[in-house]
Amino acid sequence: MYNVRKVTEDLYWIGGDDHRLHLFENIHPIPRGVSYNSYLLLDKKTVLFDTVDWSIGRQFLENLEHVLDGRPLDYMVINHMEPDHAAMIEEVMLRYPKVKVISSEKAFYFMNQFGFHIDSSKTEIVKEGDKKSFGKHEILFVAAPMVHWPEAMVSFDTTNGVLFSADAFGSFGALDGKLFNDEVNFDRDWIDDARRYYTNIVGKYGPHVQALLKKAAGIDIKIVCPLHGPVWRNNLGYFIDKYDKWSRYEPEEKGVMIVYASMYGNTENAASVLASKLVEKGMNNVVMYDVSKTHISQLISETFKYSNVVLASVTYNLGIYPLMHNYLMDMKALNVQNRTFAILENGSWACESGRLMREFLENMRNMTVLDEKVTLTSSMTAEQIGEMDTLVDSIINSMK
Ligand code: FEO
Repeated sequence: MYNVRKVTEDLYWIGGDDHRLHLFENIHPIPRGVSYNSYLLLDKKTVLFDTVDWSIGRQFLENLEHVLDGRPLDYMVINHMEPDHAAMIEEVMLRYPKVKVISSEKAFYFMNQFGFHIDSSKTEIVKEGDKKSFGKHEILFVAAPMVHWPEAMVSFDTTNGVLFSADAFGSFGALDGKLFNDEVNFDRDWIDDARRYYTNIVGKYGPHVQALLKKAAGIDIKIVCPLHGPVWRNNLGYFIDKYDKWSRYEPEEKGVMIVYASMYGNTENAASVLASKLVEKGMNNVVMYDVSKTHISQLISETFKYSNVVLASVTYNLGIYPLMHNYLMDMKALNVQNRTFAILENGSWACESGRLMREFLENMRNMTVLDEKVTLTSSMTAEQIGEMDTLVDSIINSMK
């Protein structure tokens, strides 16, 4: 049975949800599922904007057939050819052999690399600033390199202000019938997954997102149709502001994220003491994460959210605890910057984790590491309460 929603009078969402996939890109857990959005415009010509992942291919084809209602499919615009959106291109071409594919030059190279065979007579290459009319609607094509792959572009309907934004403004989470941002409580139920999606998928490419936001500021956007998650038809400023902060690597909140690596609970105990003291001294926006029990995508997402991070780690094989090291490496790979760190280290002998974590952070961009630190020799003692107070004061001062 088809399952579609109307976006405007002549534009339909014809995508679907995947509730079965455990790991997006085979790495990021998606307990709330994910949607793959595809849109069909019924103008003088019929225009499909992106396809979907194989996993929901059957639903998508049924949706497409239903909305076309016997009309031919004239054009297929591919804004982003990563296979979670482009997997159905060949199948669509087999079913609608007269369709022409519109995309960037690089996207056609990638299609070839992925083994999608499209006859050159069926392709139409567009570049930054090109426009094409499909009847009433005129579409402007805007390059969006590295948001999230180099070939990406976005398409803007100059007639009604609809932006087909590709991966930008997307989110993890299945839609479950609620297509529009005003049909959900986004700030309560979606923002954490939206942040986790952005920071882990596109987070590395902040300057490219900034470039796209600058281009977007020059056009009158009324509706944003991303490839994942809700369609935005009001309150766009809320989400644009989040994207602006994330892509400038600016924290959303003044707060302290304590990430601890603890083998027998002693480092965790010291981290808890530190948390209590922060709250006692008035900083109650404090969160604690066990690096061994928290998925790295969640750690990254929270790191983008908070201004301050405390790393509390045991020494392991004379180095940083491996899962803490992974977290640091992922942070570096995603270009996280502009954060203030404090260090709490532990080592029953040859304590090295603090020095190594400091070195790691000092080799990253715009990271501040507070001079004060606490060193445990197996466990925290009452004699170290003064040192902990000094560290807490230093964290709080750094937030003023
Ligand atoms: Fe949802 Fe970059 O693909």
